[in-house]
Amino acid sequence: MGRDRGSVVVLYNSVSDEGYEDLKNVDPSTLGFTPEYDIAVATVAEEYGAIVKSLRNEGFRVRPVNLKDDIGRLERVVKRHPPDAVFNLVESFHDDADLEPAVAGFLDLYGVPYTGAAPLSLALCRRKGLLKTLLLAYRVPTPRFHQLWKPKIGQRHGLHYPLIVKPAREDGSAGIEAASVVHDRAQLQARLEMVIAEYGAPVLVEEFIEGRELHIGILGNDPPVVLPPLEYDFSELPPDEPAIISFAAKWDPLKEVFHRVGSKCPAELSRKLLKRVQEVALRAYRVAGCRDYARLDIRVAQDDHVYVLEVNPNPDLTEGVSFMHSAEEAGYSFARTLREIVEMAMARGR
Ligand SMILES: Nc1ncnc2c1ncn2[C@@H]1O[C@H](COP(=O)(O)OP(=O)(O)O)[C@@H](O)[C@H]1O
Ligand SMILES: [Mg+2]
Repeated sequence: MGRDRGSVVVLYNSVSDEGYEDLKNVDPSTLGFTPEYDIAVATVAEEYGAIVKSLRNEGFRVRPVNLKDDIGRLERVVKRHPPDAVFNLVESFHDDADLEPAVAGFLDLYGVPYTGAAPLSLALCRRKGLLKTLLLAYRVPTPRFHQLWKPKIGQRHGLHYPLIVKPAREDGSAGIEAASVVHDRAQLQARLEMVIAEYGAPVLVEEFIEGRELHIGILGNDPPVVLPPLEYDFSELPPDEPAIISFAAKWDPLKEVFHRVGSKCPAELSRKLLKRVQEVALRAYRVAGCRDYARLDIRVAQDDHVYVLEVNPNPDLTEGVSFMHSAEEAGYSFARTLREIVEMAMARGR
């Protein structure tokens, strides 16, 4: 037996795995294009399972707990057998992502240490307009924008086309597709109406940064460590598709764009640009109040200006993807990265 590193509850909230299971039955030859990646992406249960397994291998006593929209389950856990730390993978409650911070707050009230960001930071990063205002106040560059509550924008809005229209309180590329990028007033008006009708207000109208897209993982607190930059490769996209991580490119293995966006880590950046990206990412991490780990979505314009698109506290931890790809590139294995994150939480409990 290895050493006992303490007890961990891996906490998540998943009510159904249906959509994912269907993908296991898709015959790739019926798609009409050549898939680059697996169609049967990991189910939610498989992803959490991989984390549980790795933490066990690292010497933690691990209990997975699926909330299934019932906070009573968590209450029983923390009252009867409080763990040394909770690995907080909860992203929503009753299908409402605005309740994500409340679950973290619940753990705070019970005094149980948990991984990742505190409620304020989780809530702030879900309000993209507010976060951008705060970033600008601290001189962290982010694309120029307006936040609108109605599908109406003055003639002299002062922003330069192309623009991108996005729901201000969604993530995971919800509402992001080719038509999000608009080139004139008519397209802008149509998209504003569509996004507000579909996702509700507010909505962000933002200058579209043509250039490179980098995702920057940050691990730790004192001091936080910037992981090697990961760059998205849009060069294989069909020519009529804008170079963005659309909803389909991120999530839908049945769409061609999913298979045409690649990524590379580490990105090839000049020393100067790398330094600038690291500096901007660290500032954004601190301004947003991130803790333990986070991922910054960044664009680098053709003139090498660096812009923060958004801050993702508690980002996706799928092995080999985005944050974890960068961690592995820095020499932290999947298991070690998870262990370090748990140890950060445990240290807060002492
Ligand atoms: N101002 C922008 N300029 C260029 N691309 C953008 C801009 N804003 C968003 N995008 C594209 O849309 C994607 C999703 O936007 P993002 O702000 O990161 O929201 P989400 O929370 O949905 O990830 C980005 O990864 C990027 O490809
Ligand atoms: Mg993003």
